[in-house]
Amino acid sequence: MDHFEVRDGRMFVEDVCLDEIADAVGTPVYVYSTATLERHAAVFRQAVAGLGRGDPLVAFAVKANPNGAVLATLGRAGLGADVVSGGEVARARAAGIAADRILFSGVGKTAAEMRDGLEAGILQFNLESQEEARLLSEVAVAAGRTADIAFRINPDVDAGTHAKISTGRADNKFGIPAADARAAYATAASLPGLRVTGVTVHIGSQLFDLAPLAAAFGRLGTLIGQLRADGHHIELADLGGGLGVPYDPALPPPPTPADYGAMVAQATAGWDLRLAFEPGRLIVGNAGVLLASVVRVKPGAEHPWVIVDAGMNDLIRPSLYDAWHDIRAVRPTGARWMANVVGPVCESGDTFATAREMDQVGEGDRVAFMTAGAYAATMASTYNSRPLTPEVLVSGSRWAVVRERQSLREMIAAERRPDWLTA
Ligand code: LLP
Repeated sequence: MDHFEVRDGRMFVEDVCLDEIADAVGTPVYVYSTATLERHAAVFRQAVAGLGRGDPLVAFAVKANPNGAVLATLGRAGLGADVVSGGEVARARAAGIAADRILFSGVGKTAAEMRDGLEAGILQFNLESQEEARLLSEVAVAAGRTADIAFRINPDVDAGTHAKISTGRADNKFGIPAADARAAYATAASLPGLRVTGVTVHIGSQLFDLAPLAAAFGRLGTLIGQLRADGHHIELADLGGGLGVPYDPALPPPPTPADYGAMVAQATAGWDLRLAFEPGRLIVGNAGVLLASVVRVKPGAEHPWVIVDAGMNDLIRPSLYDAWHDIRAVRPTGARWMANVVGPVCESGDTFATAREMDQVGEGDRVAFMTAGAYAATMASTYNSRPLTPEVLVSGSRWAVVRERQSLREMIAAERRPDWLTA
């Protein structure tokens, strides 16, 4: 459920008309709904409440939307943070998320990033190799700290999602094979500065089938038993993220958080430890839209080209993953047509929709790319020297710019002319 709806012929986010934001801030602009963020956080927390020992940790995957105002909203709604870089540690802390609610994932943590996590005092490092464990041990000893660690297990299951966002197969770079896990834990337990505390798994994103997750959790459960038999204290099982969201209303919906919670309850029965989760897309996906304007409409061979002022640099998901985003007129007239929707970037891949049945729009009209709260603004670039898109957060009838539009001056400020070009 989200809080974007057409009232009196115009699309509103909660109680703010998208036209009001576009008039004041210009387009393209990302717009997020506080009520939707809060609702998703509450629904997920409710779905996993009471599972495992103690209070489950729901750690929002910051990579999905690292905007500070979004993080602060989610932190106040009771979520922790799953981070994958020193930058995300800093953002989570700046947003007021307590260090003991932060999990540090990622296959390529550097020594500097490990120090960032240790100095912040995060809850657990999720390690992806024995090599990483050795480096973390050195860094922790040098810093005079102890790092609580889990290994990410690669359960070798096919999550049934797009190849670029599948992470749990043996041929993916992520985690360690289950068969190597006991040796890895033995190594970690013998290293100074490390304390073995958990296990973790994450098999992919935009999942529509709970069966691969259940299979992965089943393998994790077996491993927990073996690790305990080996003498390790496994206190936290971090089950990752991955639950899909409905981008295309015409497709069957994904499993609900309640379905997911019921599956987790069954899969983890008897584990007797605390559970953690790392949802990203589920929390923020439907809480945001990318608001754009139609620059012009030009005839096409079969269908008209609707050229908008947002490009693949602003929203790369369709180019990168063939992702489908619903595109709606901010002032729908009821007229529909078939059109191609493209951006201004000089690449044929800068295409949002091909032969799409959609609201008929013309030059100057505004459109909303729906379900653009996750992996959207954060994956933007300045390709074609297009400044980064601003972000707006709505709460009831209030709204605020939570990231300014990048100026041209800022965009080029870090560049330098070497002396042989200035002489
Ligand atoms: N935990 C780990 C270790 C992850 O790698 C990810 C996502 C998550 C949690 C959160 O997964 P979620 O609940 O959001 O599915 N840019 C792609 C998605 C990349 C996901 C990367 N990892 C997209 O736009 O579809």
